[in-house]
Parts: sequence; C-alpha cells; structure tokens
Amino acid sequence: MLTQPIQQALNKQIAMEAQSSQAYLAMASWAEIQPGLDGVTNFFYQQSDEERVHMLKLIRYVNERGGFAVVPALPQPNITFQSLKRVFEEFLRHEMAVSESINELVGLALQEKDFATHNFLQWYVSEQIEEEGLARMLNDKLELVGDDKGGIYLFDKDIMLFRANASPSGRVSSAG
Ligand code: FEO
Repeated sequence: MLTQPIQQALNKQIAMEAQSSQAYLAMASWAEIQPGLDGVTNFFYQQSDEERVHMLKLIRYVNERGGFAVVPALPQPNITFQSLKRVFEEFLRHEMAVSESINELVGLALQEKDFATHNFLQWYVSEQIEEEGLARMLNDKLELVGDDKGGIYLFDKDIMLFRANASPSGRVSSAG
C-alpha cells in the first residue's frame, strides 16, 4: 500500500510525464510544418510516445500498489518556436526539470521507507541520465552548426542515429 505522500508525488509525476508527451507532440507538429525537418519531426513524435510510456508505467504501478492513479488535465504546451535551437533548448530544460522531479521522488521514497517504490524508480533514474545526455548532445551539435543550412540538413538527417548512439541498448525496448 502506498502512503499518501508517495501517492501524491507519483500522481504529480504522472502529470509531468503526460505534460512532457504533450510538449514533444507540439514540437513534432511544429517541426512537421517546417521545410525539410523530417528527422526532427520523427524524433519528437517518437519522444512523445516514449513519454506516454513513462506515464503509463507510473499509472499501472500506482494502481497495482493499491493507490489510485489520476489521469491529469493538461495545460497547452508551447506550440510555436522561434528556431530549431529554441526547440532543443526547451527539450533540455524540460528533461532537467523531470530529472529533478525524479530525484525528489527517490528522496521521498527513502524518507517514507517505501523500498518498493524506491526500486521501481531506479528505471526512471537511468532513463533520465540517457534523456538528459541525449538532449545535451543535440544542443551541443546545434551550437556547432549555428545557422549553416548544410549543417542543419545533416543534423536532421542524422538525428535518429544520434539517438541510437546515445543508447546502444535500445531506448524503446527498455521502456517495457
Ligand atoms: Fe519521461 Fe523524458 O522524461
């Protein structure tokens, strides 16, 4: 059985993962109407799907432990962006906020002596190392590219490879 503080914190995390999924869906939709950003578009559609998986894992866990997982109302995310660079800056900021939230949850699980939840959260701790690392790497690459159109073309072409290299074990399969 989950304690009240743990249940509340997990439900807050469910909302955060849902919000992440929405935010990345909006980035995918923005990228899709820009000329030539097919790779970035696919990247964010996939990223949005992954965040939904993160949310679902939490929902199933809360209910399995005798709690009640609350499906949250969501505010509209940013839907337009000044540039591709801004999109990826927001992606990194978002992932850093998620990491912080997961760390707080892990701390709370220890405080409440909820070792099952502590154990469950370790998957999210590893996932956040990957996600943040990937977001940082993509920001670094865009910094190098600057406004060079040829560079942006190659970035878009290679973005899925960057993702594969960031996680040789395969990110989607590790979500199960
Ligand atoms: Fe589920 Fe990217 O945080």
